[in-house]
Amino acid sequence: MKYDIAVLPGDGIGPEVVAEAVKVLQAIGRPFNHEFVFKHGDIGAISIDRHGVALTEDTLKMCKRCNAVLLGAVGDPKYDNPLGKVRPEDGLLALRKGLKLFANLRPVKMLPMLVDSTNLKPEVVRGVDLVVVRELTGGLYFGKPKRRWQTAGGRQAVDTMKYSEKEIERIVRVGFELARQRRKKLTSVDKANVLETSRLWRQIATEISAEYPDIQFDHQLVDSCSMRFIQRPTEFDVIVTENTFGDILTDEASMLAGSMGMLPSASLAGIPRKSTAIFGLYEPIHGSSPKRAGQNMANPIATILSAAMMLRYSLNLPSEADSIEKAVVTVLEQGYRTYDIMSEGMNKVGTREMGELIASRV
Ligand code: IPM
Ligand code: MG
Repeated sequence: MKYDIAVLPGDGIGPEVVAEAVKVLQAIGRPFNHEFVFKHGDIGAISIDRHGVALTEDTLKMCKRCNAVLLGAVGDPKYDNPLGKVRPEDGLLALRKGLKLFANLRPVKMLPMLVDSTNLKPEVVRGVDLVVVRELTGGLYFGKPKRRWQTAGGRQAVDTMKYSEKEIERIVRVGFELARQRRKKLTSVDKANVLETSRLWRQIATEISAEYPDIQFDHQLVDSCSMRFIQRPTEFDVIVTENTFGDILTDEASMLAGSMGMLPSASLAGIPRKSTAIFGLYEPIHGSSPKRAGQNMANPIATILSAAMMLRYSLNLPSEADSIEKAVVTVLEQGYRTYDIMSEGMNKVGTREMGELIASRV
């Protein structure tokens, strides 16, 4: 089979980690007889530099014509000015919205050989295996009004947290469906003691739970959930939450897996059910890490595991996805480490070496 894959390397370490994921995809294509056709495009600061905007219409159209999108990272300190007209991050937000990618899956798994590479106690993080389902096209990120203005009494600004029944329902269903494919536990996270959107969220989630009697379901407040992530993270299976809460909780949760450099993500335009292919975008959850760019240092595993998620969810190739995930485990078991997961006695390698090691074992 032939598959078209849009490749948007973006900024900073993005191009380096994406190159390794492409290598791994090419390696998996050969034995399974798949042809991956990679179509490159710009996003983020590089797109602003070249075209004046963080995402062009052409790039968006190109992505729509592909089976899936593989993305590196966006962001560059030179565009950090809060009053700036163009921001690299806007490209990513426009892409998520433009491709209707409402469901962001962020799995967090502590691999046994990495328990000593975190600064949390090994007995707390050993066995962590959870997935955060983050709503990705609503809430504070996109709600209107969203603006800043001048008043006689000083400057003011507003962002709007807004959710419709439909938006809540579809994302909560993603949570239940995933829980069904895993350990059958779902936690819905909100701030229902304060926010009206959260009260609506909680009500709708409770209604939908009636259709999933096989799933053990509970609600948690986001502040308390963030505490439990550190206290007893192994108790979680699937977590479903709104956009901003999910953004914050997943950076926190990444520490449970040793390093941000280990965490992949999938952003889907539909509800994942077994044996159906859904259009999606795949990216590591880490950022562009400008300080490490161009030094062959960055850990490409998050992007390589994102490519595996792409095979699973958008191309319906689960055996190929398994093979990549197994190759990652093998390479780590053999003691190879990038700087971020390095520990004593291990063999330190760079971005390219890590990519090649994995590609040669798929
Ligand atoms: C993420 C990032 C993005 C977000 C930024 C880069 C816009 O932090 O994917 O978690 O806030 O969603
Ligand atoms: Mg984030």
